[in-house]
Amino acid sequence: MAVLDIRVYPDSILRTKCTRLPDITEDLLITFADMAETMYAANGIGLAAPQVGLTHRMIVVDVGTRENGTNSGLLKMLNPLILSGSGTIEMEEGCLSIPNIRETVKRMERIQVRYTNDNGIDISLDADGLLAVCIQHEIDHLDGILFTDRLSPLRKQLIKSKLDKLRRKSSTQK
Ligand code: CO
Repeated sequence: MAVLDIRVYPDSILRTKCTRLPDITEDLLITFADMAETMYAANGIGLAAPQVGLTHRMIVVDVGTRENGTNSGLLKMLNPLILSGSGTIEMEEGCLSIPNIRETVKRMERIQVRYTNDNGIDISLDADGLLAVCIQHEIDHLDGILFTDRLSPLRKQLIKSKLDKLRRKSSTQK
């Protein structure tokens, strides 16, 4: 397994719409393992393929132990798709690809998501709270959407200088 480089805003791969994969393969199992290791090394609770430079519809999520003591553990999701959702929840989010910015985002509180797991089995999962938020954030990445896109115009204006700073940083590194 390997810790991969995390792509940072405004890297254009973060704006790419990722492609579905027909099935799990040996190569994709290695990719899932590397993505999980990268997520844990960065103390993240979720990671999507474009954040490590890949345009596959793959995410990993591990939100840890919940208040009610349950732990869904590490989820490796191929071609995740939200089938339905309900309610609204507001939670503070951050992103490994947008360092030093944390903002409250409004999302669906409960979702039903379908995906293929690392054994090639199709799973239907009901998620709520932090797990539901995390899965929605990661699936957004597969469509080139960042959590900052989901802020109100006012909040967007307020973080603009921080985003500009990240942009300047990347242009001086090139
Ligand atoms: Co993110």
